[in-house]
Amino acid sequence: MKMSIRRFTQFLAVALTTSVTLYATDLSKAYDMPDATKILKQDKLAKPTKFKMPKSCNLDDLEAIARGKYIFHNLNGKKAKAKPPKGLVKFITKNGKKKPKQFGNCVACHNIEGAKGAGNIGPDLTNYKKLFIDTKARDAKFVYQKIADARIDNPKTHMTINLTTKLFNKSEICDLTAYVISDKSKKK
Ligand code: HEC
Repeated sequence: MKMSIRRFTQFLAVALTTSVTLYATDLSKAYDMPDATKILKQDKLAKPTKFKMPKSCNLDDLEAIARGKYIFHNLNGKKAKAKPPKGLVKFITKNGKKKPKQFGNCVACHNIEGAKGAGNIGPDLTNYKKLFIDTKARDAKFVYQKIADARIDNPKTHMTINLTTKLFNKSEICDLTAYVISDKSKKK
């Protein structure tokens, strides 16, 4: 199991407090101590989850497609150069702190129309509509589930898990789906 440095430090702190407390204080209070296994469990990835594509998913909406494109091609709000499309922001406020919004960086693994320096860990998504949607090899529901939690279709996937982890919300998964299946043949 992989543990982040922060979690490891947290774990060490708990272990240290635990031993110091055990040594220095009344043992009858021992069961009040913080439970390190709880902290370790937070690091575990949630179980593969099936999602239903919401009815509100408007796959032909040009604004949704534009947001999906932006999320697909950018890593985060600090690195993103272009102005975000309507409905997206570069920075969010969390616990009173302003921080860059995390985007999909799907290009790290997938090539697609207009991708710069795309990776090839995942399949090439260029011409997806013509090759997979028009031929009915795939449908929007499949793509939605794949982006939401790829493990349902492929338990051994190397793709990032996006909805189960709450990295994105349902509407953002809709945007990404709309973008992947959109017809990009007329644009550059
Ligand atoms: C770490 C690499 C990685 C990242 C990042 C990644 N993917 Fe994937 N993706 C994969 C791999 C590997 C597959 C093939 C295995 C599978 O289907 O689970 C895949 C499969 C897919 C498929 C299914 C293609 C098909 O029809 O078979 C879609 C659609 C997709 N990814 C979209 C996305 C989107 C959108 C993002 C960004 C939110 C993204 N991916 C981010 C690695 C990645």
